[in-house]
Amino acid sequence: MAVAKKTTTKKASAAKTVKSAPKKAARDKVVLAYSGGLDTSVDIHWLQENYNVDVIAIAVNVGQPPSKDDIVARALRNGAIKADFIDVRKEFVEDYIWPALKANAMYQNVYPLSTAVARPLITKVLADVAKKEGAKYIAHGCTAKGNDQVRFDVGLISQNPDLKIIAPMREWVTTREEEIDYAKKNGIEIIVKKSSPYSRDENLWGNSCECGILEDPWEEPPAGAWAYTVDPAKAPAAPKYIEIGFEKGIPVCLDGVRMDGVKLIETLNELAGKYGVGRIDHVEDRLVGIKSRETYECPAAITLIAAHRGLEALTLPKDTIEFKRIIEQKFSQLIYDGLWYEGLRENLQAFID
Ligand code: ARG
Repeated sequence: MAVAKKTTTKKASAAKTVKSAPKKAARDKVVLAYSGGLDTSVDIHWLQENYNVDVIAIAVNVGQPPSKDDIVARALRNGAIKADFIDVRKEFVEDYIWPALKANAMYQNVYPLSTAVARPLITKVLADVAKKEGAKYIAHGCTAKGNDQVRFDVGLISQNPDLKIIAPMREWVTTREEEIDYAKKNGIEIIVKKSSPYSRDENLWGNSCECGILEDPWEEPPAGAWAYTVDPAKAPAAPKYIEIGFEKGIPVCLDGVRMDGVKLIETLNELAGKYGVGRIDHVEDRLVGIKSRETYECPAAITLIAAHRGLEALTLPKDTIEFKRIIEQKFSQLIYDGLWYEGLRENLQAFID
């Protein structure tokens, strides 16, 4: 484990003439990608203990459901020297979701990349805070099994190659029970939710669910795996029509009512979710080489991509559509692989725009 130097002892010659007590050497700082959940709450203490660093806890609002308590205040009570909850929903929609929508971006033709497309923005926010605070380290809560560790590492390094990345959950392989024990022993305040067999990630563009019984592809996802959509069998019998207005490939109104992107996506998530639209059950090929069964609920994304493709069918020449489908595949793969800041993504974006 790479451990930060505990102190920097400089032999200052001027020290002999100065009477005041020697100043405590400033500790290095780490910006922690913080969610308020068990892992990242415990990480605040773990980072101080193992790396002797000051922790700045940053939560990024990309439209995940709010926590039951004030997670910023709790991070401070748990020892962070600073904490913040930064709302980037508008930027998320305009600079990440809309470009993905214009590309009809779907990984393996089924998953609208909801988790993947948020990661580059989160890394940008963290790197910006690190720069402002003069922090040398960034920490994230990803484990060694998923795609997100790669997306964080690659995203952060593309922002600033000098940043040093710490992933506590890659170094400290632990169980939920051990973490709860560690929290108790160290007086860490946590919100212990009812233990869930699933691991979820949520934002405006969609919700993902993995682990538990889902790992058996013979099993149909149980009702409890779905949290944001109504079972299509229980949806209202009468269909509902909704008119989506686009300008330059970007949705701007619903049934003639103009609204900003965040509101438009929230509204569609609720509306289409009530009809069971946007449920996805997928055995996915992860970037790290494993297959994993996941379910997704992405009502707004699925509705908007279908509408956007319909619009293209009406307006684009045949050859352009065919060629765009090839570009879209590559574009989606780049997002999935955490390569948003790669030059090729920008070049493909220019064609798509
Ligand atoms: N497999 C998806 C992806 O890599 C989503 C993973 C989100 N994490 C979770 N714990 N559900 O983009």
